[in-house]
Amino acid sequence: AGASAVLIFNSGTEGNEGVVNGSLVTPEATTLPVVGLSYAAGTALLAGGTVTVTTQVISENRETYNVIAETASGDAGNTVVVGAHLDSVLEGPGINDNGSGSAGILTIAEAMAGTTTANKVRFTWWGAEESGLLGSKHYVADLKTTSPAALEDVALYLNFDMIGSPNYGRFVYDGDHSAFAPVKVPATPATPTTPGTPETTVTAPAGSGAIEAAFHQYFGSVGLASGETQFSGRSDYGPFIAEGIPAGGLFTGAEGRKTVEQAALFGGRAGIPYDLCYHQACDDISNVNSQGLDEMADAAAAVVVRFATSTHDVNG
Ligand code: PHE
Ligand code: ZN
Ligand code: ZN
Ligand code: ZN
Repeated sequence: AGASAVLIFNSGTEGNEGVVNGSLVTPEATTLPVVGLSYAAGTALLAGGTVTVTTQVISENRETYNVIAETASGDAGNTVVVGAHLDSVLEGPGINDNGSGSAGILTIAEAMAGTTTANKVRFTWWGAEESGLLGSKHYVADLKTTSPAALEDVALYLNFDMIGSPNYGRFVYDGDHSAFAPVKVPATPATPTTPGTPETTVTAPAGSGAIEAAFHQYFGSVGLASGETQFSGRSDYGPFIAEGIPAGGLFTGAEGRKTVEQAALFGGRAGIPYDLCYHQACDDISNVNSQGLDEMADAAAAVVVRFATSTHDVNG
């Protein structure tokens, strides 16, 4: 604690707190494995950058699991994958992040049980998102090597990460880059890297704009305003878009502060974070806005059903 150190990481995304399989080189040049390193406010976790370690380094290996369930019927060649991460950070129970998304898609799955849809729908609960999107990265990489045809069969991916923030906004991933320019994130190469990893520009695969539009259209149809959030790669859709699979999803906000304009659109309080308990112990059962969760889960259900019926406007 308090030591100045150079952090070298092999995986993880800029802005994402989880640093896995990395090593921490202390000033004494002893190298410690880093399984989890908490984000320390005010420090940037950039490859090759110097960080001040103010939090405990936990060295531990654990097995993690993805949970996957799919409809018995529907066109498997046009599979709609719906995902949410099941893990939380070490600091807290992770009820908004991401019990909200996990419970949201479980509700949709339960409601769809026994129904028949044109397309197959596959529900995925990812492990270890907070440690660098490990579950979703593994899933995509595994399909790519063991069954490339099955990866081809994925028509689109829908992601739900934090959909019940207390001071919520109704944010749709900006799949057409209409609101934000493509953002830069570090490349996530298959092999471990050293500091200085080149950055790549995240560009949404074609079709992601139609997914974004489907969400806005739903919100419009029920008279609710919706906004946009950066399609940054900061959640489990990252590995999918890296393979060119169209993706989209919903988000109600994390540590960012609601603007005056957003408060006018969504209600809530301007000037305070969407989720004051983001990645903290207080992200407990009281840290969910039930109205917001309800609105977002209904939107998720409507859009899942829409693409379960047809992916025509996404895949042509
Ligand atoms: N992936 C982040 C998490 O699980 C959530 C997030 C996404 C926060 C995008 C900000 C922007 O903590
Ligand atoms: Zn998180
Ligand atoms: Zn999350
Ligand atoms: Zn947009």
